[in-house]
Amino acid sequence: ARRLRVAIDGPAGAGKGTVARGLSERLGYLLLDTGALYRTVALASARAGIAWEDVEAIGALARRLADEGRIALPGVSGAAARHVDHMQILLDGEDVSFAIRTPEMSLGASRVSAVPAVREALLAMQRQAGSEGGVVLEGRDIGTVVFPDAEVKFFLTAPAEIRARRRFDELAGRGVDVSFEETLADVIQRDKADSERAVAPLRQAADALVVDSAGRAPEAIVDEMARVVELRA
Ligand code: C5P
Repeated sequence: ARRLRVAIDGPAGAGKGTVARGLSERLGYLLLDTGALYRTVALASARAGIAWEDVEAIGALARRLADEGRIALPGVSGAAARHVDHMQILLDGEDVSFAIRTPEMSLGASRVSAVPAVREALLAMQRQAGSEGGVVLEGRDIGTVVFPDAEVKFFLTAPAEIRARRRFDELAGRGVDVSFEETLADVIQRDKADSERAVAPLRQAADALVVDSAGRAPEAIVDEMARVVELRA
């Protein structure tokens, strides 16, 4: 069977992470969470004391991080995917996998991801990581920009209330102090920002298969996706 490039795009909290993990495990494919790259740029910007408004400085920083190989996203493969809660990502050799999973860095990632120079800096990294095939890439613009020629594209979505509930349960489970209302507001704000930005806005590719995750068990969605991939492989 051919080893394909599988794109899973969709809004925050649609369940992309869980489903992408299950699918990569099932197929024995490499798993790449591209949102982690934007989150890491946001973390690096915050640590450097750069304001979210300073798009020049953020763009320059992202370019340096990429050119100097200071971000490493090793990805995980197959069975190992089951054991990762959040994919490992390194910034200057430091494991920042948890530091990037805060509400601040969610919003920060949304801000830096609207900067064209940031997207361009991260594009080569993503293409390189997926170039061999046999990979599940999870993000916002994988099927539209990163790999418009991906062999399989899914657009995973669900109503905002449901996505916010999932995010809230996840954050609360980790002891992050947020309310459901704040989480819902954050999800709506990020949807809006991600869909309305000028470069690589969140939208489904014309040839993507739309999957609604509302009320469905992740395993059932993984089953459906795995069947689609196997048919095309
Ligand atoms: O998926 P995650 O919530 O980690 O993504 C964080 C933010 O990074 C998103 O809200 C979006 O603004 C940005 N992002 C993006 N393109 C991707 C992945 C994430 O713009 N491929």
